[in-house]
Amino acid sequence: MTASLGGRIAIVTAAGSGIGAATARRLAGHGTAVVVADLSGRRADEVAAAIVAGGGRAVAIKMDVAVPERVQATIQLALDTFGGLDIVVNNAGLAEAAPLHEISLESWNRVIAVTLTGTFLGMKYCLPLMRRQGRGVIVNTASISGIAGDYGLSSYNAAKAGVINLTRSAARENARDGIRVNCVCPGAINTRAAELLGKDRAEDFRRRNAAAHPIGRIGEPDEIASTVCFLASDESSFITGAAIVVDGGITAHTGLPDMA
Ligand SMILES: NC(=O)c1ccc[n+]([C@@H]2O[C@H](COP(=O)([O-])OP(=O)(O)OC[C@H]3O[C@@H](n4cnc5c(N)ncnc54)[C@H](O)[C@@H]3O)[C@@H](O)[C@H]2O)c1
Repeated sequence: MTASLGGRIAIVTAAGSGIGAATARRLAGHGTAVVVADLSGRRADEVAAAIVAGGGRAVAIKMDVAVPERVQATIQLALDTFGGLDIVVNNAGLAEAAPLHEISLESWNRVIAVTLTGTFLGMKYCLPLMRRQGRGVIVNTASISGIAGDYGLSSYNAAKAGVINLTRSAARENARDGIRVNCVCPGAINTRAAELLGKDRAEDFRRRNAAAHPIGRIGEPDEIASTVCFLASDESSFITGAAIVVDGGITAHTGLPDMA
């Protein structure tokens, strides 16, 4: 239990599944009231209902992080329901796989809109409020795919690299106003994203990714949520502008074959 999270109010986007759902549950477990925001109203409702059934405080909203009015409505819901806003977790992201020369402009725009513009909007609309109150914490979900390139994911690589540097700019601009801004860079995590590939391809995805991570397995959503909660709490009071890698060691490796 991280005491400083008790009584705080948070928004978590893409909280209907995977890393976002685990983060919403974990924050609620620490006593934070959570706005569970997701493109799927059904998934958001289910996560919020489970938190409330477990004795926590949560409310659901169906929203799209790429739509300014829905981002503003999500912030307003936090204020109307819980009376404030302390923590924003901009977690939504979208990947569409294709070699760069085959990416349509529409696909490029979708990936940038959700992953990078969605993060921008999530920060843009909460910062004036946080600056007025002289405190606040923002945690963005980037990726190891924002640190290095992947075959077939160039639009996602570009968008996540943007999230990392946008995090740094926002941290620099708002540090003197009591606001900390950080991001997490997960390696491959066992979420619905893998399941959407279908049963056989999901197993293949998990096996190949497990082999690529020095730890020998892919991560679980809770292993990212614990880092997000640390960054959202006062335990990390001197950390801002950081991109924290949580990746089972994959970015520690040059990629060269083992020598011994
Ligand atoms: N799973 C991984 O291996 C992995 C690795 C690194 C980074 N990430 C990042 O973590 C974040 C969460 O990924 P996950 O794998 O937990 O996701 P997931 O696939 O388990 O769930 C994604 C959720 O996001 C919601 N969503 C999609 N578009 C949205 C939008 N425009 N607005 C609001 N909600 C939206 C979906 O409805 C869904 O409930 C993403 O930013 C992703 O890029 C994931």
